[in-house]
Amino acid sequence: MSKFDVRFMGKIKKIAVMTSGGDSPGMNAAIRSVVRTCAYYRTECMGIYRGYQGLIEGDLVPLTARSVNNIIHKGGTILKSARSKDFRTKEGREKAYQHLKENNVDALVVIGGDGSFTGGVVFNKEFSFPIIGIPGTIDNDISGTTHTLGYDTALNTAVEAIDKIRDTASSHNRLFFVEVMGRDAGFIALNAGVGAGAEEILIPEEDLGLERMLESLKKSRRTGKSSSIVVVSEGDKTGKNVFELADYVEENLPEYEVRVSVLGHMQRGGSPTCFDRVLASRLGVKAVELLLDSQTNLMVGLQNNKVVATDLEKAIKGQDSIDTELLRVSDIMTT
Ligand code: F6P
Repeated sequence: MSKFDVRFMGKIKKIAVMTSGGDSPGMNAAIRSVVRTCAYYRTECMGIYRGYQGLIEGDLVPLTARSVNNIIHKGGTILKSARSKDFRTKEGREKAYQHLKENNVDALVVIGGDGSFTGGVVFNKEFSFPIIGIPGTIDNDISGTTHTLGYDTALNTAVEAIDKIRDTASSHNRLFFVEVMGRDAGFIALNAGVGAGAEEILIPEEDLGLERMLESLKKSRRTGKSSSIVVVSEGDKTGKNVFELADYVEENLPEYEVRVSVLGHMQRGGSPTCFDRVLASRLGVKAVELLLDSQTNLMVGLQNNKVVATDLEKAIKGQDSIDTELLRVSDIMTT
């Protein structure tokens, strides 16, 4: 341990880590990083199974540097995950606190998305329990970081799937509506759409209008395109789901033969990209170092390729706005 590292030796002797909410590729790499950073600083570490729900039920295990061998490349989360209803109650949070105390845990690292961070903020307010968040969600809908863990992998998964759909769309001169994940955020739809060369992209942040979509598809046919892909985010603003959109186009543009493909949870699985593994490793180190440095209520993230800390509440509240430049690029590319 270098002289620099000695400043991190404070009153935090044991840190627990959990994954919470929708899983995302890179969560295992982040767990590994947290556990190994604890080992590096000779701080005990525990894993909590099934997020806040497991904490309420006292489902904790000690983790050592060797417990996280051979997981950096694996999708999912070895600690499992859950969306806990019980943690929304005062009673549930009290039980969670008791289990942390019984296990002599001094601080918590929560790997998850906005719901998990909201729970963490409430918990910290009630029990003054030190907590640091690592953003893990494929949706990328967290402020204070340009990338959440799993987003890059999910994008690549979506693009690969759309490429395959394009092959069959083109063989049959068909129009495909492809639904990607993102209940409230269009980051996957917009970026995968541009990356896969989609004709139209429908996202929750902007209502581009059904008329506009029809016009664009008419134009595609006029200018000689025989097949088309429209990428639709789960929560897009048109108010129609992907099947209703397909019916709408078939009614209004009978020249099109339309098919629908919903990519669904395949976007949440798979081996994380190198980008997500490196990001997870960097964020895990920073999360533990902040706790050992007596800091709390922060989220670690990436800005200008530097690891930075943001107030946890700010990270939840301010969702980064959608990139209108990318919408423009998409428009120009469909000429
Ligand atoms: O938050 C990530 C996410 O994958 C969203 O994109 C999606 O709407 C939601 O989770 C699905 O959640 P569940 O797996 O609980 O159905």
